[in-house]
Order: sequence, then C-alpha cells, then structure tokens
Amino acid sequence: MKPYHLLRFIFLLLFLSFSSSFPINIWPKPTNISWPIPHSSPLCPSFNIHCSQPSHPHLSLAISRYTDLLLADHHQPLLPPSLPSSPHPISSLSISISNPSAPLHHAVDESYTLSIPLSGPAFLFASTPWGAIRGLESFSQLTWSADSQILVAAGIHISDRPLFPHRGLLLDTSRNFFTVEDIMRTVRAMSYNKMNVLHWHITDSQSFPILLPSVPDLAIKGSYGPDMRYSPEDVRRIVDYAMSYGVRVMPEIDVPGHTGSWAEAYPEIVTCANQFWRPPNKPALAAEPATGQLNPLNPKTYSIVHNVFRDAANLFPEPFFHGGADEVNSACWESDPSIAAFISAGGTLDQLLQTFITKTHPFLTSHLNRTAVYWEDVVLGPAVKVSPSAIPKTTILQTWNNGPNNTKILTSMGYRVIVSSWDFYYLDCGHGGWVGNDSEYDSLTPGGNGGSWCAPFKTWQRVYDYDITEGLTEEERRMVIGGEVAMWSEQVDGVVADGRIWPRTAAMAEALWSGNRGEDGKKRYGDATDRLNEWRHRMVGRGIAAEPIQPLWCARNPGMCNLVQ
Ligand SMILES: *[C@@H]1O[C@H](CO)[C@@H](O)[C@H](O)[C@H]1NC(C)=O
Ligand SMILES: *[C@@H]1O[C@H](CO)[C@@H](O)[C@H](O)[C@H]1NC(C)=O
Ligand SMILES: *[C@@H]1O[C@H](CO)[C@@H](O)[C@H](O)[C@H]1NC(C)=O
Ligand SMILES: *[C@@H]1O[C@H](CO)[C@@H](O)[C@H](O)[C@H]1NC(C)=O
Repeated sequence: MKPYHLLRFIFLLLFLSFSSSFPINIWPKPTNISWPIPHSSPLCPSFNIHCSQPSHPHLSLAISRYTDLLLADHHQPLLPPSLPSSPHPISSLSISISNPSAPLHHAVDESYTLSIPLSGPAFLFASTPWGAIRGLESFSQLTWSADSQILVAAGIHISDRPLFPHRGLLLDTSRNFFTVEDIMRTVRAMSYNKMNVLHWHITDSQSFPILLPSVPDLAIKGSYGPDMRYSPEDVRRIVDYAMSYGVRVMPEIDVPGHTGSWAEAYPEIVTCANQFWRPPNKPALAAEPATGQLNPLNPKTYSIVHNVFRDAANLFPEPFFHGGADEVNSACWESDPSIAAFISAGGTLDQLLQTFITKTHPFLTSHLNRTAVYWEDVVLGPAVKVSPSAIPKTTILQTWNNGPNNTKILTSMGYRVIVSSWDFYYLDCGHGGWVGNDSEYDSLTPGGNGGSWCAPFKTWQRVYDYDITEGLTEEERRMVIGGEVAMWSEQVDGVVADGRIWPRTAAMAEALWSGNRGEDGKKRYGDATDRLNEWRHRMVGRGIAAEPIQPLWCARNPGMCNLVQ
C-alpha cells in the first residue's frame, strides 16, 4: 500500500471508531449514557408522546411542541449515522413524573432518565415537569431522518442531571432593542441547550423599554419609540412562553448607576444626565455614553424606584430580582450641587450608595419577597462600594471582574455567586470599539485591543474550558450557583443576535450541565469540537442562525482540523 493509501486507511479506521462511539449526539452531553449495542429504530407513523399525570399546562405545551418538532425536523446529520436498524418501530414515548406541582424555581430538580428499547414504547421518568422537558429535548436530539423515515437511537439508556442549577444568558435590551420574537427565539435556543435562566437586563442609560403601569412615562419618554417598548402584555407573554421551555426570566432593573434614560421622564432624580460622557480634561462621567445616575439624596428617587420594582415584580413571578448596583461613577454624582454640598459637609460617596441600598434592598426582599441579586461592584466596586455588613448573606452576587479571583473573594465572604467573568463569558468582547472619532484606527501599525476594552473575542473554546469553581475550597464551591454568559448589546440587535450568541453560549451550556471534562478527568474540548459542529448544524435547521465554528470540511472529516492529532 502506498503511504498515502495507508494514511487514508488509518483515517478511515479512526473515523469508523469515532462514528461508532458517537453515532448521534446530545448537546449538552448527558451525564450518563449507556448504549451497549448502538441500533436505530424507526419512529412509528402513529408515534405519540403521552404523560400519565393530569395535564400540566406548560408540560402539555412542551409535549405538543416536541411532537411537532420530531415530525417536522427532518434533521440530516453532517455525518449520517450508519447503525444496524431494528425492524420494529418505537411506538410512543411515555412520560411519568413524581412531583408534578414543583414550581420552576432555582434549584428545582431537572434530572430525568430516558430509556429507548429496540422496539415498543420508550420511557421518560422525571421528578418534575421541568426535568421532563430536559428529557424531551434529549429524545428529540436522538432522532434524525434518513430515506424519508424518522429514525431514533434504540437500545439506549440515559440518566442525566445538571452540575449547576443556574445556567443563564444575560440579554441587554437597553443599548439596542430586541423584538418579542427575538427574545422568544433566544429562549427556544436556550431550552434546546438545557439552559434555564434568561437574565433580562431590561433598562440602562440608553433606553427604558418596559412600560410600567404606575410610572408609564419612563418608557413613553425613555424608550427608543412606541415600537421599541415592551407592554405588560408582551412581558407576560415572554415569561409564560419561557416557562413552557423550562426557562425562568430574571428581570434586572439596573440602579442607581446606568439610569440616564430615567431623566427623560424624571430629570429631577437623575444627576449628570445628557452630558458629553468624556468632558475634556476632566474625569469621565460614565463608563460609556450615555450619562446619568439616580440621586440618593432626593426622596423622590425612592418613590419612583419603589414603583418600578413593584410593577416589575408584578410582571415577573420569578423569585430572583436583579437590582444592578454596578459601576457607580464618582464624577457624575459629584457634579450634582446637592451631592457636592453633602461631600463638603464630610459625607462620602460610599455612604450615598449605602443610603440607596438600605432604602431599596429591604423593599425588594421584605416587601416584594424577592431574593436580591446585585453585581459584585456593590461590595467590590473600585470607586464606590458599601460595607459587606450592609448586604445580607441571603443576597446573590454576580461576579464579572478578575476571573476566578473575585469568585473566591465573594464566596469566601459567604455570598452565593453567579459567575460571568468577562475574560471568559462576555460575548460582546473583541468586536472592536464603537465610540466614534477615535484616532486609534488612524495608524499604519495597528495593534492593541482593537478598541474593545475586553478584547479578544471569546471563542467557544475559551468559554468551554472555563472552570467557574477554579481555585475554590469545597465550601466555597458550594456557593457558586452557576454562570451566565452576557450579551451586552452596544453592537447587537435582533438582526445579528443569533450568530453572536450561538453556538458560543452552547459551550457554556455543556460546561455547566455535564462539565468540560471526560470520564478520564481531562478537558474534552477536542471531542466537543466535532459534536459542536453537528449541534450547530441542528440548531440552524431549527431556525437559530448560529455561526459556523469551522469549515464544513472539518465536520465531514472529524479530528482532521485539530491542532494536535
Ligand atoms: C452515573 O453513573 C454512575 C456510575 O454508574 C453513578 O454513580 C451515577 O449516580 C450516575 N449518575 C446519574 C445522574 O444517574
Ligand atoms: C415568598 O416567596 C417564596 C418563593 O421564593 C414563597 O415560597 C413564599 O410563599 C412567599 N411568601 C409570601 C409571604 O408570599
Ligand atoms: C488573580 O490574583 C493573582 C494573585 O494575586 C494575580 O497574579 C492575578 O493577576 C489575578 N488575576 C486576575 C485576572 O485578576
Ligand atoms: C474629533 O476629535 C478631534 C480631537 O481629536 C476634535 O478636534 C474634533 O472636533 C472631533 N470631531 C468631531 C466630529 O467631533
């Protein structure tokens, strides 16, 4: 055999062994799969999904959706599995649930077991309806179409549950607007990836797009326009839709910083609004345009904030409520005469933030019965922060700076933590700068960070390999409830969102569901590459415009595009 042919032969062998160990993929990879003799079986033409429990409104919706998806998907894998086929069809999928009334709350049991025999009925057992939805997703990914038949993996048993209870995506709808349909499509894609929290960063300095009944002027004057606002009805639709996909919607109203848009309706409660963000020879008034912060010394600030929180809590049944509290800017507050007087009289900015927190935190927790979530800045802020003694340990803090270092600091203080370290989980990074009139680009020797403060771009591999409990003790580890990738929207709207979010978010989804390591304890990024190619292809078929991660050739030739064989 010529060396070339010998090589081809070896590759063919490698390919065969690859395809026999992973003939069909589930993303995120389940914790336990047993498939001793891989087979496929056709789905019976009269195939149906039924549940022994009395109908559960959200699970019933999920069942009818998955029934449609199975029949409509016509998914053809990039590498068609060639498996011995059982001549007898799978007739039905029978679901049974032991705790049908469990609400979709943090840490609800999402485990399930799925058994597909070689013929006859398949079985899905879950403790809760939400676990059943995860199992239905797995079942759907075990099907494919070949020769105008729908085939399903047969002789397979899966038992599965997530590593982390909080697997989220932050979507910012203030910098740019996203339609209700954009948000629903994103929720669908999250559920395909078994993610369970949409962190909706609703408002910021640029726009206030949510219409709240007791303070309607905030949106009427502060949104980008009548067609770029969410009515209470829109919000209820999104929340209910997400629930039928097993996705909680956690609202964030970012205060007291990031509130320039509030000044359109209530200029009297906002300091430094509508100023040029970077006055010459003076400290910047905000981290980016636009400027504006709530004034903690004005009593009216609290009546407005309480109305906003109450109305938002009415629209979002979710027990977690994010109150922001990040990036309070010193210069913006100091530029206000009332605050300048307070400082001259010996007051500090830290005291001001503390005043704001002590007048709004108990309202969230005691009055509205919510678990408060804040950005880490509230206790670690470089410019302005409060003493941890003012933030009860029932609060959840979201970390975004200094990678594993801050996760350790916050967990060792005794807080539960959501990890969103920008160096790994910020999906906006590395897309270049967006502020104009920037002389940085007028150069024949480009370099640096290309204008993006958090460059480089976080590739799916960077996201996948991040261990969010790196360097923690066992006790600190238990305080990490999960992670969120963040889609800040300065340069994103619904037109390009899918490709910016997917499939990189799928990388986090697997790392937080079943981990980023194989059974040997080694990182499994090599194996994940081929599986993610397939998964991206299936997502595109389901209407999610995820970007490709490699040339198609690589997916067709597994392992051949690796850096190391
Ligand atoms: C997976 O299998 C292992 C070993 O068989 C077992 O210890 C573990 O409990 C299983 N996990 C799940 C989620 O069923
Ligand atoms: C507060 O919320 C929790 C869910 O987080 C719920 O179980 C409890 O009944 C609520 N309490 C009141 C008084 O509404
Ligand atoms: C974390 O802390 C170590 C030790 O102080 C330091 O060397 C490192 O630069 C820090 N990493 C980040 C991302 O801040
Ligand atoms: C751009 O910046 C320069 C200073 O570098 C300034 O002189 C000029 O007025 C700015 N142009 C615009 C359009 O703002």
